[in-house]
Amino acid sequence: MSEEHKNLTFYEKLSEKIESKSLKFILFTTLAVLIGGLVEIPPFFLMGSVQKIESVKPYNALELAGRDAYQQEGCFYCHTQVIRPFKWETDRWDRNREYGPEPFSKAGEFVYEHPFLWGSKRTGPDLSHEASLNNNASWHRAHLMNPRETTPGSVMPAYPWLFESKLDAAEVKSHMRALQTVGVPYTQTDMDAADELVKGKTQGDALIAYILKLGRDTMVVK
Ligand code: HEC
Repeated sequence: MSEEHKNLTFYEKLSEKIESKSLKFILFTTLAVLIGGLVEIPPFFLMGSVQKIESVKPYNALELAGRDAYQQEGCFYCHTQVIRPFKWETDRWDRNREYGPEPFSKAGEFVYEHPFLWGSKRTGPDLSHEASLNNNASWHRAHLMNPRETTPGSVMPAYPWLFESKLDAAEVKSHMRALQTVGVPYTQTDMDAADELVKGKTQGDALIAYILKLGRDTMVVK
């Protein structure tokens, strides 16, 4: 045994032994992934379909346009929309005690989300209960125009141009029709309401309507 080999740790020797045999290595890693898949995937299908929450309704035309702005600007790179079932999270995101005995995110809240905007990085606070935590539209406007104005030291970017960019009702309606094809139950009345809702509004106004919709439908105490 060479002098160099003797200095290796147990795990280094083990990995040298396994990783140098590529066929066996491929075989065993495939086996490990298959076992992992068997443990995780079939129970997922056995759990049945997602439980519906009656109070959860699709976004109206203005809120939907706001959701588009949220996607366009990549807000989800810094914000999540998932409250996990841990006490330290539910205490923080349901501090007004408005969400009943289970104040965390549930699958039924997301049935009309195409695609999901859960996010994974929590640079900024979670926004799922913004309707409860801060429903002051003019605060949100000032914050989006310049976060440093309302929140000194904030690292969030400013989005002033959203308040100059006018909405186009036809575009929003075609998005609604596209969502209909994947099962979002928009009615003709919802579509007809679009013109009135987005008239004269900017992407910024829509974004605020969207932020204030987040967490509104699942509030138990309104
Ligand atoms: C670079 C990361 C980053 C991006 C991108 C970002 N934010 Fe933020 N956001 C933050 C941070 C950090 C805070 C906390 C400080 C503050 O309030 O400004 C915050 C705070 C907020 C708040 C206040 C939440 C509360 O309850 O206090 C809202 C609402 C918000 N952001 C919405 C948005 C929207 C909408 C977008 C996209 C247009 C966006 N953010 C993009 C980092 C980000």
